[in-house]
Amino acid sequence: MTVRNLHERSLTWDSTSAEETERMGESLGLLLQPGDVIALFGELGSGKTVLVRGMAGGYGCAKGDVHSPSFTLVNEYVGPSAGAVNGGQRRLAHVDLYRIRSEDELPGIGWDEVLHSRHVVAVEWAERALRWMPGDHLRVTLETLGQERRRLHVQGMGPRSVELTMRWAETGGFPAERT
Ligand SMILES: Nc1ncnc2c1ncn2[C@@H]1O[C@H](COP(=O)(O)OP(=O)(O)O)[C@@H](O)[C@H]1O
Ligand SMILES: [Mg+2]
Repeated sequence: MTVRNLHERSLTWDSTSAEETERMGESLGLLLQPGDVIALFGELGSGKTVLVRGMAGGYGCAKGDVHSPSFTLVNEYVGPSAGAVNGGQRRLAHVDLYRIRSEDELPGIGWDEVLHSRHVVAVEWAERALRWMPGDHLRVTLETLGQERRRLHVQGMGPRSVELTMRWAETGGFPAERT
């Protein structure tokens, strides 16, 4: 994974394989804390789910479970109780809004419950939920450049997500132990 540029609030990575994108997700997952919200943008097949699979693994949830939900809009992955955060299990909510017809459906799919619980939340097709995003969330836009080439644009929208951007830039590609 190559860092192309790093500004104060944003970062661009290039990936040349699905494995590389998954590893990037893993290095982000190692940094995540309950309440972090990751908004994912990018066309079908750009690698959003691959990135979430890595995130889930890095965060301590079973990444083998991670797939694009085809009929449900929210999948929940629960980590082992060992290494639990703040006395609870690690929970990652994987929201995929591909099939949503209107933003007005969001309250009905448990959006508020997920956001106000101790989940990490990763949202695919986040442009369909902008109105409902918390102010401080991390935006990752995946761009398809070729069969295996992807460009990831990362932007923090508030203090916590800017901190995540900076720490991800430092650790990306070299997953460290969770601290
Ligand atoms: N550099 C790459 N990063 C991520 N996925 C890649 C890459 N190169 C090829 N792929 C492939 O592209 C597809 C991405 O699928 P997926 O993550 O489900 O996309 P999305 O969730 O954005 O629709 C997978 O089949 C993956 O193997
Ligand atoms: Mg997907």
